[in-house]
Amino acid sequence: MNVLVTGKLPDSVVKRIRKVHDVTFSDTETPMSREKLLDSVDGQDGLLCMITDTVDPVLLDHAVNLKMIANYGVGYDNIDIPAATERGIPVSNTPGVLTDATADLAMALILGMGRRIVAGDAKTRRGDFKFWSPMHFLGREITGKTLGLIGLGRIGKALARRAAGFDMHMVYYSRRRLAPADEARLKVSYRPLDALLKQADYISLHVPLTVDTRHLIGEEAFGQMKPSAILINTSRGPVVDEKALVQALRQHRIAGAGLDVYEKEPELSPGLTDFENVILLPHVGSATIETRTRMAELAVDNLLAGLAGKRPPNCLNWEMLPGNGSG
Ligand code: DGY
Repeated sequence: MNVLVTGKLPDSVVKRIRKVHDVTFSDTETPMSREKLLDSVDGQDGLLCMITDTVDPVLLDHAVNLKMIANYGVGYDNIDIPAATERGIPVSNTPGVLTDATADLAMALILGMGRRIVAGDAKTRRGDFKFWSPMHFLGREITGKTLGLIGLGRIGKALARRAAGFDMHMVYYSRRRLAPADEARLKVSYRPLDALLKQADYISLHVPLTVDTRHLIGEEAFGQMKPSAILINTSRGPVVDEKALVQALRQHRIAGAGLDVYEKEPELSPGLTDFENVILLPHVGSATIETRTRMAELAVDNLLAGLAGKRPPNCLNWEMLPGNGSG
């Protein structure tokens, strides 16, 4: 069968697909243009796509042979799942394998923001480290502070385990409340969103991007946060209303933000680069050699299973497909 891989993957992984199928793959770091994607997907049976590829009805209508879509990423807001399901196409993602790397990065942003690591490095490089003094370049403590976790899936839980090691107090808001035994084990307490926003010193976002979570953190939410609060986002950019964030930073309504993702990625909202109390990373939550290799392996496991007519291990819509359950 014909397979399109839209991003550059390790050779060892591409070889696994090549053993069984004819592969067309992108060999550059740059995401495929929409035009090239639409052109290339025509006649393909399998698609291993990146989170930067929009898989919508227009694309699906260009790919009438498509039998499997394997997304390289745990987030799948780039794919119109109902449209794929309607066409009988299984869709998979890569959960689990990137949990630790992403939670590490969220913890790094908490530490980096609290202790002003990036700003301190910039200051030293500029030659502005002129003296030591008691009140010089003070940050904010991590130990004993309250971490507000918005969303408590795999990554939120992994961050809670890390934050417990720093003796943080943890509160969380999630659509589904954990069982009391799980809350106790993770040392987290449930709060309604408003209460969490008012209480937390560090607020870390771990929700998927859906119609309900788009702009979950906007003007109203910033208005509820403490002026000393720091926002951390390693989930999806549009969960935060970036214009409202810039406004909140400008008016000192919060103390800073550590961001790995952006509303109109890779573009940054005007003003976002003006602040020293903001860390801006280029969407690298899962970007370790080990994790990106595991993601590639898992995406290929899913792709090969789907093309062989088997249930992909991480299928998102299996039960919905005609003949598989409710579909
Ligand atoms: C994902 O997998 O959704 C990540 O954002 C990619 O790092």
